[in-house]
Amino acid sequence: DDGLVVLGIETSCDDTAAAVVRGNGEILSQVISSQAELLAQYGGVAPKQAEEAHSRVIDKVVQDALDRANVTEKDLCCCCYHWTWFGPLSTRELIGVQKARRVAGAFNLPIVGVHHMEAHALVARLVEHELSFPFMALLISGGHNIIVLAHKLGQYTQLGTTVDDAIGEAFDKTAKWLGLDMRRSGGPAVEELALEGDSKSVMFNVPMKNHKDCNFSYAGLKTQVRLAIAAREIDAKCPVSSATKADRRNRADIAASFQRVAVLHLEEKCERAIDWALKLEPSIKHMVRDSNIKRMFCTCPLNLPSNPLILQVVSGGVASNQYVRFRLNNIVENKNLKLVCPPPSLCTDNGVMVAWTGLEHFRVGRFDPPPPAMEPDDFM
Ligand code: KG4
Ligand code: ZN
Repeated sequence: DDGLVVLGIETSCDDTAAAVVRGNGEILSQVISSQAELLAQYGGVAPKQAEEAHSRVIDKVVQDALDRANVTEKDLCCCCYHWTWFGPLSTRELIGVQKARRVAGAFNLPIVGVHHMEAHALVARLVEHELSFPFMALLISGGHNIIVLAHKLGQYTQLGTTVDDAIGEAFDKTAKWLGLDMRRSGGPAVEELALEGDSKSVMFNVPMKNHKDCNFSYAGLKTQVRLAIAAREIDAKCPVSSATKADRRNRADIAASFQRVAVLHLEEKCERAIDWALKLEPSIKHMVRDSNIKRMFCTCPLNLPSNPLILQVVSGGVASNQYVRFRLNNIVENKNLKLVCPPPSLCTDNGVMVAWTGLEHFRVGRFDPPPPAMEPDDFM
């Protein structure tokens, strides 16, 4: 296994990423080209611009990943790109797929399509070698907010999802409305400003209090934040760095209060999902009853354990938030389980998670044969 060397390519969102990972989990290289300036200019990901940026840098990002890993295409065992469950691939995603096909075609390599959310979940297994199926994963990003039970590789039961927006989207909008620096995504900016604020100062309602399910909703909280910002006459056009002391404090209070309630919503649903999972998954129930199981791992999206462990994985960009990690850890520990979270660099979109998940599938024989070699002109 250690001899396997895999290239992963990720272009689903605003960053162009590639990584080379070895079969034993060693990360040989990880390259990310971010579109920070574009984010600042458009206040979010603008599809057309993101697509052009991916096209411009994809060759260089992949070459850098190979160079830094000190390998050439000939050393690779397979080439992985991400795909999604829903609908056709976006043109952004296609840029990664085409690059993977070019590399695979030119060097006669098998090629593995990897689901983006599965990759968020499974990267936890690279980080935590003990993490085996079945386990539960909470995947929280800009576009997704799902809790899944991972039975085994490729087999997941979704326990809950968002009925409208994902938590990352709420963080991003809050950042924009608070006039925070958008040269990076909104989440980290809100997290940082929240440190200066009083999280109990603005009374936001926790979403879906009366729903006895594991679903999420962030649209209503977004509206509450927008109204609170309007009521305090905060001007998003005035950057927080030039705000008066009182204005800055106001913004920090909103950031902290929003973050507290947004995460409280995660906590409540996670708690219920753990109870559900224990009922749904007979092997977990058995383990809890008979072997006094005390461990639950929470990391990136989801994984499946084979030894007597229950794993909960928390992943996706929002899982890099320290407050999120701390609060979810408390919930999981209160259930006498253990939470495992990948490091922040592996929670946000990255090539490592794609390479690793492709490797997991490749090992069990799931891959496509090399595509016929083609000239780059055939794609572009
Ligand atoms: O997984 P990801 O990198 O891309 C998607 O697949 O969406 O997640 C990006 C999302 C963005 O909404 C970003 O604001 C959020 O994750 N995020 C954070 C933090 N870091 C990234 N949200 C809150 N706190 C953070 N520290
Ligand atoms: Zn993602």
